[in-house]
Amino acid sequence: MAGKPLVLFLASEMYPFSKTGGLGDVLGALPLALHRKGINTAVLTPMYGRLSTAGYKLRLTQSHIPVGYPWPPVTADVYQTDYHGMPVYFLARGEYFDRRFYYNTYDGDYFDNCERFNFFCRAALEFASRLPEPPAVIHAHDWQTALAPAYVSFLRKKEPRWAATRTVMTIHNLAFQGRFSSRLFWECGLDHAAWHMDGAEYFGDFNLLKAGIAYADAVTTVSPSYAREILTPQFGCGLEGILNKRRAVLRGILNGADYDVWDPDGDKFLPCSYNPGDPDGKRECKKSLIRELYLSDQLEDKPLLSFIGRMRGQKGIDLLTEIIPRLMKKQVGVVVLGEGNLKHEARLLELIEEYPGRLAVVVGYSEDLAHRIQAGSDIFLMPSRYEPCGLTQMYALRFGAIPVATAVGGLIDTIRPYPDPAATGFTFAEPNAEQFLWTINLAIKLWREEKAAWVAMVERAMSQAFTWERSAGDYIKLYGDIGARLE
Ligand code: ADP
Ligand code: GLC
Repeated sequence: MAGKPLVLFLASEMYPFSKTGGLGDVLGALPLALHRKGINTAVLTPMYGRLSTAGYKLRLTQSHIPVGYPWPPVTADVYQTDYHGMPVYFLARGEYFDRRFYYNTYDGDYFDNCERFNFFCRAALEFASRLPEPPAVIHAHDWQTALAPAYVSFLRKKEPRWAATRTVMTIHNLAFQGRFSSRLFWECGLDHAAWHMDGAEYFGDFNLLKAGIAYADAVTTVSPSYAREILTPQFGCGLEGILNKRRAVLRGILNGADYDVWDPDGDKFLPCSYNPGDPDGKRECKKSLIRELYLSDQLEDKPLLSFIGRMRGQKGIDLLTEIIPRLMKKQVGVVVLGEGNLKHEARLLELIEEYPGRLAVVVGYSEDLAHRIQAGSDIFLMPSRYEPCGLTQMYALRFGAIPVATAVGGLIDTIRPYPDPAATGFTFAEPNAEQFLWTINLAIKLWREEKAAWVAMVERAMSQAFTWERSAGDYIKLYGDIGARLE
């Protein structure tokens, strides 16, 4: 596809090389879906110290790219690999990216995150300017790469080569904005004309995501419902003003699920395969999960509930912790996998003592266990306070773990709630403990008392297909609508 105009994705994570959450999953799948539709696509992402090469061979492709002002001549190197026929580039600068974590330690964010990701964006544009033609589209994701659309907006006024480049800013989570002291704006190298309330300035601070929203040709978020919600003060995280101003270019495009990675039919992490036509393997997966987590064998005939996710307020982990004692009275098993807030981690670990054999809590990050939990559980819990899209519920559907989730954002767009005859899960309106528990009880009742209805729901859930192919089609249309020339 070389020779065709390029769509260049800039992102701070990409599965299977790096991942802290759904952003990594999206980057592992969406660019490839575009590539498979014949779009010349590439990804540029940081070369982290903790990067996994995942068996791919990386080779140095450009060295000593000078990344100019505001630093004295600092350089970056770029490594490349072939990911299913699509180039992935890794931007290397040891002092910024060769660290133990991606963005923060348990003590908080890295103090130089603004400098690190500003460096990434500036180096990305230097890298792109060395290509035979600047990219047709630069597609940025979240605050870490949000300065790129802002830079391009000023660059194309000065450099005719860049005139045809279009930019897209995708918001995966509005709560993370990259907000820094104004001093860092004056030093970062962005045109000073960007310093105003419809630009990079936010209540006297430098706000990277706001800059991306202000200057990109199109702004997207990862579900239609979240695109509507973020225009309101309740979900706008303070950026509803600029989002309303940019409403004409704001679109919600639902994420997909990568069924090459997340499908119980042939999943390499599972003890056995299953699919809607042959669902029996799920029982075996449940049995095996119960053994793996040292839970009581008696749970094999009881509902097994699970939670996988960052232990943060967003995910409603506090609501789960709060209801566990009441939930346990229902003779169920609960499995939790996650990490994040130390207070919630500690509370859950304490609770294990009270419910030995019925509550398993794994604090940490384990890709393969996440698959086995999805496969082994009957009910998947997702009491999110907000959810831009959410991928775990889509995986749960495919794995036949019926979601019980808040009716927000992407959860509205992916779960058809009981008692709809075509229901694939259960939702509740307000993220509070009472509604959450009430709705779980409804699900447990159906599991126990109406087996045929339950089995039918599981089959419907497993047959849902949120394909990346469909999302990629929507992005291609968007690129066209903003005037990108892809041929
Ligand atoms: P978010 O991006 O907000 O964290 P998503 O549902 O979009 O939520 O994506 C979360 C992704 O991260 C899923 O692939 C999920 O399996 C994974 N994940 C989250 N926490 C863990 C964990 N502790 N161990 C393994 N995978 C996890
Ligand atoms: C964010 C959101 C999540 C979404 C993911 C991928 O992490 O919290 O809802 O699924 O990005 O877009």
